Amino acid sequence: MRILVIGSGGREHALVWKLGQSPSVTEILVAPGNGGTAAEGARNVPVAADDMDGLVELARREKVDLVVPGPELPLTLGIVDRMREAGIPCFGPDAYCARLEGSKAFAKDIMRRAGVPTAACEIFTDADKARAYVEAKGAPLVIKADGLAAGKGVVVAHTTEEALEAVEDIMRRRAFGAAGDQVVIEECLIGEEASFLCFCDGKTVVPLPSAQDHKAVFDGDKGPNTGGMGAYSPAPVLPDGEAQRMADLVARPILRELAADGHPFVGILYAGLMMTPDGPRVLEYNTRFGDPECQPLLMRLEGDLPAVMLACVEGRLDPASLSYTSRTALGVVVAAKGYPGSYPKGMPIRGLAEADALPGVKVFHSGTSLKDGEIVSSGGRVLCVTALGDTLAGARDAAYAALKKIDMPDSQYRSDIGQKGIDRLAGKART
Ligand code: AMP
Ligand code: GLY
Repeated sequence: MRILVIGSGGREHALVWKLGQSPSVTEILVAPGNGGTAAEGARNVPVAADDMDGLVELARREKVDLVVPGPELPLTLGIVDRMREAGIPCFGPDAYCARLEGSKAFAKDIMRRAGVPTAACEIFTDADKARAYVEAKGAPLVIKADGLAAGKGVVVAHTTEEALEAVEDIMRRRAFGAAGDQVVIEECLIGEEASFLCFCDGKTVVPLPSAQDHKAVFDGDKGPNTGGMGAYSPAPVLPDGEAQRMADLVARPILRELAADGHPFVGILYAGLMMTPDGPRVLEYNTRFGDPECQPLLMRLEGDLPAVMLACVEGRLDPASLSYTSRTALGVVVAAKGYPGSYPKGMPIRGLAEADALPGVKVFHSGTSLKDGEIVSSGGRVLCVTALGDTLAGARDAAYAALKKIDMPDSQYRSDIGQKGIDRLAGKART
């Protein structure tokens, strides 16, 4: 089988690594890929993840048997529809279903129709009406740009002034362009977050084990939000034994609605959950693997990933085809200093082989490239150092021990990945 993976982050490196373990795979192409996917033996091809014509042309020319888009952008641009027209299986939702991630207003409407628990909200296209609502309600409120904003279009406002400022930024100053044509204003929920992902074939839903991301840049969840600074699986806040119940609550009803709309959902449905004292609430849906959740999740996955993905595309997903090691996996993101603001690039990275050689460790590359035979940084998030352990604390210790082998100037990482889960297991959880 010949596979084309679309994207260039740590998630895509993990996908290439796992897909490549299948005996049925003969070659993996990555558009455009990174230093890690090249080191994995895949062929990086310089076609951008949003170049729809270029991607279809590449898949045709290379006689690809399966396309695996990593990020949301090609999905919302309709890569699955385009590949379908070309007769090429593509693991992901069509553009209609990808609006679940691409438009928060669309997601809220489907959730309402499907009866999925979520934060109460109002949707506005008029800035004055949005402001009046904020004044009437008062803080805390959560203000969200409707469209894709690279994870930055959400403001959790603790004061009414902050909430009004967010409305101005999104709707009048157009901080996220057309993504701010509409805003969603939500009640602020309190609790611990969890990522809940499912394989979907249009009707059958098979949950993956739970995971937890760390969105804030600094220890103790301080500082601005990032794409994610580390993740682990399973997350004690959502034990594996509850996965089917959770799928009944937040995934299967959504698939029923989308199928009724004539668009069966294929691919990964990812619910970002807030585990509140009143039960789980969906904060958002993504329609792809999370980055960095994908890295620890795929470290735990046992089974033939390309076969599972193809089964999803063909509507014959078998729950028995997926299993996971009972061990815990934890990944720590190494980022360039300054991220998520501006940051330097081109730093040499040493010690990767020493880290990778440790038992149960895999170093996934996010923003790296190969320059004169050396791996150098080329993005904000640079690596995700991931390790398996018999316990969460064991996985954490193994990942940080591996991280100590790596030398990159001007880097930063969080030192508390997994701590919430460790506290919860010790009975010290706050909620
Ligand atoms: P989203 O992109 O909608 O997941 O929002 C990004 C982050 O904002 C989430 O991971 C939460 O940390 C926070 N957030 C979003 N919605 C809410 C809410 N209703 N209450 C509290 N925090 C929220
Ligand atoms: N890690 C969160 C995301 O991929 O959206």
